[in-house]
Amino acid sequence: MEIIEADVAIVGAGGAGLRTAIALAEADPKLRIALISKVYPMRSHTCAAEGGAAGVIKSDDSFALHFDDTVGGGDWLSDQDCVEYFVQEAPKELLQLEHWGCPWNREADGSVAVRPFGGMKKQRTWFAADKSGFHILHTLFQTTLQFPSITRYDEYFALDLLVDEGRCQGLTAMEMRSGMIKQFNAKSVIICGGGAGRIFPFTTNGAIKTGDGMAMAYRSGVPLKDMEFVQYHPTGLPNTGSLLTEACRGEGGVLLNKNGRRYLQDYGMGPETPLGKPQLKTMELGPRDRVSQAYWHELQKGNTVSTEWGECVLLDMRHLGEKYIDERLPLVRELGIAYLGVDIAKDAIPIRPVVHYMMGGISTNTQAATTLPGLFAAGECACVSLNGANRLGSNSLVELLVFGKNAAMSAIAYNKTAAPVNKAAIKARAEESQARIRQLFSRTDGTESLSGLRKEMMDTMEKNCGLYRTEAGLQEAVAKIAELRKRYQKVVLHDKSNVFNTDLFQVLELGNMLDCAAALTVGALARKESRGAHQRLDYVERDDKNFLRHSLAYYQGADMPRVDYLDVIITKSQPGIRDYSGGHK
Ligand code: FUM
Repeated sequence: MEIIEADVAIVGAGGAGLRTAIALAEADPKLRIALISKVYPMRSHTCAAEGGAAGVIKSDDSFALHFDDTVGGGDWLSDQDCVEYFVQEAPKELLQLEHWGCPWNREADGSVAVRPFGGMKKQRTWFAADKSGFHILHTLFQTTLQFPSITRYDEYFALDLLVDEGRCQGLTAMEMRSGMIKQFNAKSVIICGGGAGRIFPFTTNGAIKTGDGMAMAYRSGVPLKDMEFVQYHPTGLPNTGSLLTEACRGEGGVLLNKNGRRYLQDYGMGPETPLGKPQLKTMELGPRDRVSQAYWHELQKGNTVSTEWGECVLLDMRHLGEKYIDERLPLVRELGIAYLGVDIAKDAIPIRPVVHYMMGGISTNTQAATTLPGLFAAGECACVSLNGANRLGSNSLVELLVFGKNAAMSAIAYNKTAAPVNKAAIKARAEESQARIRQLFSRTDGTESLSGLRKEMMDTMEKNCGLYRTEAGLQEAVAKIAELRKRYQKVVLHDKSNVFNTDLFQVLELGNMLDCAAALTVGALARKESRGAHQRLDYVERDDKNFLRHSLAYYQGADMPRVDYLDVIITKSQPGIRDYSGGHK
């Protein structure tokens, strides 16, 4: 097996991975940085982010308000020391992007423009039309190119962390083009591999978001935190699940039921406000969990619109006018025409909530460190406890910058005192990893189909782990995921070739997704309360006495995970009532 020596190996080259790589290279030009990704960096899912990135910049705003919005939006499950740190770092990171060339929209006076976003009391979302993720990713990618110390391993599939003597010392990854497994020796590994939304069938997430990084850390003994909290974005295209950005509503778009009523006023998000731009009252700018849940209630009441793509509500932006739409929401217009044949300048467009983001992930602290020495994580794959039970739109693009940079700084500090990589020991671990893959190739007792297992997993998650959950449904989900994990041991690999073996990669991804689904379902069953995105029809109240705590799911091999709990860090905001009845000024 070829051995590649690095000082720091980064898994994932989306926004978090690229920001981490830049911070490492800037801090110490002599560091050997391996940037490993299963896709070319510009194909990372950060590219799909549309609406923008939150950071205090206007004189009527403050860190205290951004803190309050984030903590309240997260239903008090955020660690408040983390939020305090985040809100102060956010504008610095966004300005840094500006200096690296990110084309933020401007006000008429040339200053940076911001737009309103859900659950935020002030306008603080920086944006580049409705292609903010694309521009951020491009800015970061082009910046990495100036650093010779960053070596990219594009289209390498990460397999296993190499852990010995109680610390992470590298990883194995397969070069997808050749099928060769390589051993990366590195004192520090930073996972920036994105979320796992693909465990659900209807999602904004690209096909690559299969929780590979999360599962890799979890299998090595690092707990997954708060996995039961899954964000539904209120406005997805009903056929493809493509995102129609929250900026549609930030710019003044409204949600209507089949009677033409702006129904959010019936769910504590009123009063109704005049049409116009920008939309500054709460209504359509309620937090994502509440706006998505309101759809579910409209569905129960029979107030949704039946379409050829299923039950929907309508997102109406016609009053914004074609010129404004083309300036602020060109991609949304394009998506509507391309996928539904609906021009948002002329017609209201059918939408429904869609799985978008996982609040949970690899448990880290504010310095992006995990419980395993030598292992760090940042971005959606991590749970630094910024987002609590419900993330505010536009906080995540900044989260990956702030904590990507912290991961780099932590790895540098760690490397200074860590013992050298124990080459003999981790060579043995790498051989075990290689044997795991060989075993898949040589399996002769396979009976289970990849696509069959994957469909059963997705159907189970959709049926039982959606917007509203019940004890019986979650028990069914836990039992089914446990069964699927057993049956996965008999999955058949049809393609035994070495070159771009997509059959193999999908089998590996399915294993990773099943591990994430196990943590999610067990965590959801154990959380007998309703908080943020985790709503239970049988435990309808938030229960701070018993559940103002993070869940931690620990891997137990063939068994389902063990769940433990960790106290939430409260610094200055005691749990209170989330009031979205008209708070925007
Ligand atoms: O709606 C959006 O543009 C998504 C933003 C986000 O998830 O932060």
